[in-house]
Amino acid sequence: MKILIILVLLNFLYSFGNGSNLNIHLVKNGGLKFGDKTICPLSYGGEDCSLANTTELCNHAQDPHYGEVGPICCWSKYRKQIDLTDLKLTDGENENKSENDKIFSIFETYGPFFDRDVDLVNSILEKDTFGEYKMKYQDFFQRNPNNNQIQREPSQPLGFVILIHKIDIDAIDNLFKVLYQPYHYYVIHIDKNFSDLNKIQLLNDYLKDLQAKGRATENIYEKYPNNIKISDLRFNGEWGTISLVYMELASYTVLFDMVEERSQATNLPSLFSHMINYSLNDMITRSLKNISRTLFEGENIDTTYLHCCMADVKARYDRIYYEDHKGVGISKNAISKYGCGIEAVPSKGDVLDGSQWHFLTSKFVHFLISSTKSLEKLFSLKFSMIPDESFFQNGQAIFNGPVEKRTHRATLWNNIRYNVSISDLDLIDREETFIIRKVYDNNVREEMIKRYNLLE
Ligand SMILES: *[C@@H]1O[C@H](CO)[C@@H](O)[C@H](O)[C@H]1NC(C)=O
Ligand SMILES: *[C@@H]1O[C@H](CO)[C@@H](O)[C@H](O)[C@H]1NC(C)=O
Ligand SMILES: *[C@@H]1O[C@H](CO)[C@@H](O)[C@H](O)[C@H]1NC(C)=O
Ligand SMILES: *[C@@H]1O[C@H](CO)[C@@H](O)[C@H](O)[C@H]1NC(C)=O
Ligand SMILES: *[C@@H]1O[C@H](CO)[C@@H](O)[C@H](O)[C@H]1NC(C)=O
Ligand SMILES: *[C@@H]1O[C@H](CO)[C@@H](O)[C@H](O)[C@H]1NC(C)=O
Repeated sequence: MKILIILVLLNFLYSFGNGSNLNIHLVKNGGLKFGDKTICPLSYGGEDCSLANTTELCNHAQDPHYGEVGPICCWSKYRKQIDLTDLKLTDGENENKSENDKIFSIFETYGPFFDRDVDLVNSILEKDTFGEYKMKYQDFFQRNPNNNQIQREPSQPLGFVILIHKIDIDAIDNLFKVLYQPYHYYVIHIDKNFSDLNKIQLLNDYLKDLQAKGRATENIYEKYPNNIKISDLRFNGEWGTISLVYMELASYTVLFDMVEERSQATNLPSLFSHMINYSLNDMITRSLKNISRTLFEGENIDTTYLHCCMADVKARYDRIYYEDHKGVGISKNAISKYGCGIEAVPSKGDVLDGSQWHFLTSKFVHFLISSTKSLEKLFSLKFSMIPDESFFQNGQAIFNGPVEKRTHRATLWNNIRYNVSISDLDLIDREETFIIRKVYDNNVREEMIKRYNLLE
C-alpha cells in the first residue's frame, strides 16, 4: 500500500516534471535562483540580487540609449575578469568537468537573464535523480536506440518548423495542401504576442481533422501518434534578438519528442533526415516527395544545407546589444567610462554568419539542443545583433558535420517587389531551388501546383 502511494506520488511529481522542477527562477537585476544557489551580477548580492555594492563603478553605468545598465555592465566586467574566451567554459581545460558544473558556469557568466532565457532552459535542461543539472536530450539516442538510424521505409520523414505570428486558417490550409503527409513531422510555433485563444482552438480543430484524414490513408499510419504539434512554449519574436533562435530550439525539442512517441508506438526507427524551417509565405518548387527523395539520396542524408560567411558584419559582434535593442548597441563610451570590461562576443576569429534559411540534419539539430558547447555558444551570442544569422553557422563549426553552402532556397532579390508573380515562374531555377520565399498570392500558388506538379 505504502509503495503504491509512493509510486502514485512519484508519478504525480513526474508528470509535473519537465521544467517546473528545474528550480530556476529570475530574481532582481537579471540574476537567477539556480537550484539552491543564487547567481548575481558582479558586485550585486543578497537573496534576490537586490543589494549593490555602490563602491563598484560598474553598477552605476548609464547609457544614452538604454539608461541604467549596471547589471549588464557588471556582468560584462566579470567576463573580462575571468579572461573569457571562445568556449572556455566547456572545452579545453574545462572539457572534463561534470555537465552540472559546466552548465552552472555558463549561467554564472552569461547574465543578465530574462524570462525568455528561463523558458528556453526549461525546455532543454533537466535535473537527474541526484539533483544535478544536465542537457535533457543528451541521451536521446541511448534511450531510443531504434532511432540511431534514419527511417527510410516505408516513408522518408522530414521535420518542419513553421513559425507564424497570427492564425489565418486559409493560409495554413494552403500551406498544408502541399506540405502535409502523415509521416513527416510538423511543429507550429505561434508568436507569444498572439493571444486569441478562439483562433488557437480553431487551428487545433483544423489540425486534428487533417491528421485524422492522414492516418486513414494507409493502414501503417493508423498507429502513428500526432505528427503536428503546436509548441506549448512560445516566445515573442523580436527582430534582431536571440528570441528568434529560442523559438527554433524549443521547436526542435518538440520534434524530438514526436520522434520518441512514434518510435515507441510503432517499434520502428522514426527519425527524420532534415529539419526545414518554413513560413506561410514560403512555397516549394518541387513536390515534397521529390524533396525528401533528394535529401535522402547518397551523402545528402548527412549534409546540412546552411549558408555562411557574409562580409562586413563585425559591428554585430563587437559591442553589446541589450534585449529589445532595435539595432542600437551599448555605447563604447559608457563601456570605458564605467569599466564594463569586454564589449564583444568571445570568439576565436570572425564570428560566422549567413542566412537563417536552412535544412539541418537531425544529428546536427540534436547537437544544438543537447550539447553544453552549443549552450555556451548560444548564450555567448545573446548580446549580439541578429544572432539568428550566426548561431547555426557557429554551431555547425563546433559540430563539424558535412555542410553544403547551397541552401536550395531562393528569394527574388532582383525583383523590386521580392514578391513572386506568375510571370516569374519561368525564371525559377528548379535544379537549384527547392523552396522560394515571398509567395503571397494564391493564384500564384495554384499555378505553381499545376505547373510544377507539386501534388505528385
Ligand atoms: C565593494 O566593492 C569594493 C570595490 O570593488 C571592494 O573593495 C569592497 O570590498 C566591496 N565591499 C563589499 C562589502 O563587498
Ligand atoms: C579529459 O579526459 C580525457 C580522457 O580521460 C583525457 O585524455 C584528456 O587529457 C582530459 N582533458 C583535460 C583537459 O584534462
Ligand atoms: C505585441 O502586441 C502589442 C499590441 O498589439 C504591441 O504593442 C507590442 O509591440 C507587440 N509586441 C511585440 C514584441 O511584437
Ligand atoms: C528560420 O529561423 C530563423 C530564426 O532562426 C527565422 O528568422 C526565420 O524567419 C526562419 N525561417 C522561416 C522560413 O521560418
Ligand atoms: C526532382 O525534380 C527535379 C526537377 O524536376 C528532377 O531533376 C530530379 O531528378 C527529381 N529528383 C528526384 C529524386 O525525384
Ligand atoms: C505582391 O504583388 C502583387 C502585384 O504583383 C500585389 O498586388 C500584392 O499586393 C503584392 N503583395 C505583397 C504582400 O507585397
